[in-house]
Amino acid sequence: MKNKNNIILVGFMGTGKSTIARKLAQHLNWTLVDTDQLIESSMNMSVNEIFQKKGENYFRAIESKAIADTLQAEKQVVSTGGGAVLLEKNREIMLDNGLVVTLKADLQTIIQRVEKDRNRPLIKGDIHFNVKALLEKRKYAYDFAPIHIDTSITSVGDTITQIAQYLEK
Ligand code: S3P
Repeated sequence: MKNKNNIILVGFMGTGKSTIARKLAQHLNWTLVDTDQLIESSMNMSVNEIFQKKGENYFRAIESKAIADTLQAEKQVVSTGGGAVLLEKNREIMLDNGLVVTLKADLQTIIQRVEKDRNRPLIKGDIHFNVKALLEKRKYAYDFAPIHIDTSITSVGDTITQIAQYLEK
């Protein structure tokens, strides 16, 4: 039994978390929370700037706080950053306070989706090489979630339907 009724989307960059979260929140009439956006507005800086000026560890610390604070409430669809799963305490809080869903996608789809976005510090430069390397490094990082959906082969509509069905179970 979960402490809270929330849906938490995890997954690598470019797996569709933001899009699915927005549509799912509309579908369920739940609150939409994007932790990257929360962090950006609380710091008044872009994710890129935070990484540049404060470093990744600082970002991870405020990311943990944003996740813990957010999951005090209910009936939210929470879209997390791709690295939110790296800390065990984050994974535990997520599993305890909602239905955690991993979105995944194949390498080419991810690259296509992230190519034009400059606000992703961990893959800037040689995007193809960096995405491939980081995906390899995080091969098992998203396995802790009970549900996995591949958004390179599942439409947005079907993804929403599948998650909504799991929620009813
Ligand atoms: C990160 C993913 C990004 C953002 C930051 C770090 C990661 O979020 O939190 O750039 O470590 O994978 P998205 O997955 O929404 O791009």
